[in-house]
Amino acid sequence: MRQANPLDAKSLFDLRNHPAVRQQSNNAAEIDIYEHQRWFDAVMSNRSRQILIAEQGEKFVGMVRFDCLDDSCRMSWAIIPKTQGQGLGKQMLKMAIEQMKGCTLSAEIKHNNFASIKIAEYVGMKLIKQTRDILLYQNDY
Ligand SMILES: CC(C)(COP(=O)(O)OP(=O)(O)OC[C@H]1O[C@@H](n2cnc3c(N)ncnc32)[C@H](O)[C@@H]1OP(=O)(O)O)[C@@H](O)C(=O)NCCC(=O)NCCS
Repeated sequence: MRQANPLDAKSLFDLRNHPAVRQQSNNAAEIDIYEHQRWFDAVMSNRSRQILIAEQGEKFVGMVRFDCLDDSCRMSWAIIPKTQGQGLGKQMLKMAIEQMKGCTLSAEIKHNNFASIKIAEYVGMKLIKQTRDILLYQNDY
């Protein structure tokens, strides 16, 4: 795992726009490269937000994002579809949260996103709230 840098913009764009990833996102609309670049530049210059990149043999395989307010961070994550189902999501989240010790971490997960629910439980998060089809998982590190 490493911090994102400006060269990751395209990999993150492709991942964000993949139908399988959009389907599990709060905003399922496809976004264009200009909008993405504006968003990415804003994240990179905001100390309250960070993106960790997961690599396997130096190849981009996924990301975890933390949007923080004080010591409380909302997380989101994704693994590129062609490497899903190999345990990378679990491994990635475990490594990512180790870098955020001392923070309260939470994630909003759609009720039918079974892989993400398993991942959240694997890293010790608990279901604390359900609003319609969105589950809120949280832990305290
Ligand atoms: C969620 C996601 C990161 C999982 O990545 P992954 O590398 O495939 O996950 P893993 O291989 O580590 O699998 C995690 C667990 O989910 C299980 N799983 C995977 N796909 C599943 C499915 N479709 N249904 C049920 N369980 C599933 C795995 O078997 C594993 O559980 P196990 O260890 O008990 O066998 C990936 O599917 C993804 O990027 N999805 C789109 C983005 C997204 O959902 N983000 C979350 C928003 S917060």
